[in-house]
Amino acid sequence: MKTISTLMQLDRRVAIITGAAGRLGSQICETLAELGADVVLVDMNEHGCNELAERIEARYNADVHKLITNLGSEDDVRGIPERVLSQYDSIDILVNCAALVGTSHLQGWTTPFSEQSADTWRLALEINLTVPFVLTQACSEALKATEHGSVINISSIYGIVGPDMRLYDQTAMGNPAAYAASKGGLLQLTRWLATILAPHVRVNAISPGGVWNNQPDPFHSKYVSRTPLGRMATEEDIKGAVAYLASDLSAYVTGQNLIIDGGFTIW
Ligand SMILES: NC(=O)c1ccc[n+]([C@@H]2O[C@H](COP(=O)([O-])OP(=O)(O)OC[C@H]3O[C@@H](n4cnc5c(N)ncnc54)[C@H](O)[C@@H]3O)[C@@H](O)[C@H]2O)c1
Repeated sequence: MKTISTLMQLDRRVAIITGAAGRLGSQICETLAELGADVVLVDMNEHGCNELAERIEARYNADVHKLITNLGSEDDVRGIPERVLSQYDSIDILVNCAALVGTSHLQGWTTPFSEQSADTWRLALEINLTVPFVLTQACSEALKATEHGSVINISSIYGIVGPDMRLYDQTAMGNPAAYAASKGGLLQLTRWLATILAPHVRVNAISPGGVWNNQPDPFHSKYVSRTPLGRMATEEDIKGAVAYLASDLSAYVTGQNLIIDGGFTIW
């Protein structure tokens, strides 16, 4: 019988993380590197990737490879596995984390419904949902070949529940329809892929609640008051879920959505 510490080891497994330079993506990369994986950072933010790569190399015994890529190009997305396999022997883990988020600066995005633009809707569906579909498809043969491949899709509580727009009163914040629709779609894509790629590859989702990022007070206090654990998430809160779903700790788990929200969605 294997020990817990053996089951959670990712020694020399190769992990691709999209949105690596972001707030949650960088913590996901650090978690995987700490457990022994080599990490491929995929993001269009070159400066952020450089900083993260330096940090990981200084802290962990991990090889880091950067792919500065705009995921808006399907050809570039489809080319990712080939670029990774020119550096490494396998692709063991894929984390689909890149997304247009509430803080993205876009026309017709965090505005009232009547002002949300169809062009921005299409872009959000492309980055948040179509890219995970294309990239998982492109990586699927390599993931299958490892016999322990794991795909983790980063969704959101807003892929599960509708927004309470009263939280956003007196703030410039918003909660766009395309974000909710793309994240809900990602959860169903997770279940669909979990059956299609079984038994070789496991596919699961993580749905974080709102992460503290100096949000204005009317929002913060209302959000906290309706969260059973009495606070917003921190970036660190995602680490345990990533360690569990990426490793053999969850070898018999597929098609699931691990909700990391302090209980926000339970009532
Ligand atoms: N922060 C939260 O409160 C929260 C809550 C729930 C879910 N999430 C989810 O977590 C994930 C990460 O969110 P975050 O808060 O870290 O956001 P973030 O904006 O800090 O990170 C997103 C990253 O994706 C990259 N990216 C976006 N579009 C890209 C493109 N076209 N090509 C290449 N890279 C691109 C950005 O450069 C950025 O580094 C997202 O999927 C988000 O929906 C976040």
